[in-house]
Amino acid sequence: MKIIVLFGSPHKEGNTKKLLDVVIKRLNEMGHETETIYLYDKKIKPCLGCFACQKQKEGFGCVQNDDAQKIAEKILESDQIILATPIYSWFCTGVMKNLLDRIVFFMNKIYLGQKGTKMMKSKKISLVITCGLEPKTSTDLFERGMMRFAIHCGMFYMGSVHIKCVGKPLTDENKKSAVKFADFIVKQDMQ
Ligand SMILES: Cc1cc2nc3c(=O)[nH]c(=O)nc-3n(C[C@H](O)[C@H](O)[C@H](O)COP(=O)(O)O)c2cc1C
Repeated sequence: MKIIVLFGSPHKEGNTKKLLDVVIKRLNEMGHETETIYLYDKKIKPCLGCFACQKQKEGFGCVQNDDAQKIAEKILESDQIILATPIYSWFCTGVMKNLLDRIVFFMNKIYLGQKGTKMMKSKKISLVITCGLEPKTSTDLFERGMMRFAIHCGMFYMGSVHIKCVGKPLTDENKKSAVKFADFIVKQDMQ
């Protein structure tokens, strides 16, 4: 299985990366290929809401020339997508939100009344999240948002691993949750 990880934290050695590393290690041990894209290193402008992408049935058709379309190509080449992000104001970080807005439009040709292609249809998506407050009331909105995003795009939402981090090393329990998550998304994929 080919898994693309869209990494949305500004910290390459921070809480989210530490949790993600456990997930990736487990996936690699099981023989799955992973590629991580550091979104903070990329140029991803906000969606202009111009609808140009909807007027073009083939390809992405986005008028903005930045890294979003290259990332979208990687998404199309992969079997699963993992979004790894810290919670910022009850959602993902801004750069990840920019990407989500761009791809939900230029990969779903359905917004001008026509029944066009949903290019991410049948892809699997899951989440690796860290937060500073209680997960129950800090990761819930992003998780629900992404469940709806997946349904809207015809994708399968696979679940999440989310932990509260306060800059300390991961606990054994945190690591166990990350391993369990990796096992789960692989097992679900085979069903
Ligand atoms: C701008 C900003 C907004 C944040 N908003 C929230 C929030 O709404 N809820 C929450 O639980 N934690 C929030 N946090 C805390 C981070 O989610 C948490 O510290 C996370 O583990 C940081 O991950 P990182 O080390 O990968 O950056 C916020 C942190 C920052 C810097």
